[in-house]
Amino acid sequence: MSQPIKSLSISNFLADDALNKPQLLALIELAINIKNNPSDYSQALAGKSVAMIFEKPSLRTHVSFDMGINKLGGHALYLGQQNGKLGERERVSDYAKNLSCFADAIVARVFSHDSIQGLAEYASVPVINALCDVYHPCQALADFVTLTEQFTDLSKVKLAYVGDGNNVSNSLMLMAATLGVDFTLVTPVGYEAQSSIIEKSQTLAAASGASLIITSDINAIGKQDVIYTDTWISMGDEDTNKKAEILTHFAPYQVNHELMSKANASVVMHCQPAHLEEEITTELFDSEMAVVFQQAENRMWAQNAVLVSLLKE
Ligand code: NVA
Repeated sequence: MSQPIKSLSISNFLADDALNKPQLLALIELAINIKNNPSDYSQALAGKSVAMIFEKPSLRTHVSFDMGINKLGGHALYLGQQNGKLGERERVSDYAKNLSCFADAIVARVFSHDSIQGLAEYASVPVINALCDVYHPCQALADFVTLTEQFTDLSKVKLAYVGDGNNVSNSLMLMAATLGVDFTLVTPVGYEAQSSIIEKSQTLAAASGASLIITSDINAIGKQDVIYTDTWISMGDEDTNKKAEILTHFAPYQVNHELMSKANASVVMHCQPAHLEEEITTELFDSEMAVVFQQAENRMWAQNAVLVSLLKE
């Protein structure tokens, strides 16, 4: 049965800390409802078009938005770099205003969070962040859909992220802190989350009652239910001269069976693409503990919940 779609009272989906706990829980519930009853939502975006800007490569995000919008009866248009780099051939503000003439929503994967903010400031239609340098909110929302499916009580889950402090860990930490999920961030020295994100997460965790541990000591991982990891080198950070140094520096932080046993964790997560034998072993990625393809599928249902909520009449 389709459920009444609650208005989110926000006009864009840009960063994880823009949503409070009831809003996030409503989106998670809606995503699961759309997943279980896709035909009830098959006309939810009928007659609507979504422009999708991609400054960076994408497999899951591109396909899940395109096919997800199709499942809602809408139309998706992919805009790569054929029109020049965002902000170079024409201003971000003009890009946003032009797209608003035709599209009902804008999805954008960009290098800089400033570009997303610029699009949102000047577009007259909702803007959805499909990854920037600071956040990956669609991924975090999908991950909490996956955790809701995996565990009966989200508030009792202990989640740790091990690896590079990046867009994925930022979004996960902010959303965990908002939802009241205990979170441990383990990053090597020099690769920590930016202090502004840590401070925001600490404030949110204090309000929700979640425990938040931030450390560079992999031996301080403690008991966990879930361990999450992501690439050690994100898109836009590739500097081939530093790769060997990064691999050595990050080696103790590899997520493998030994770490899973030490933390007593039963579930491993990865947003993909995975760099096998770097941040995660092939054996663990291919094991029964990995929920990586469930995470990938849930990207589509989570994003559809966001689209349906933002485009509600
Ligand atoms: N942190 C990664 C996520 C890829 C989905 C990156 O930004 O490249």
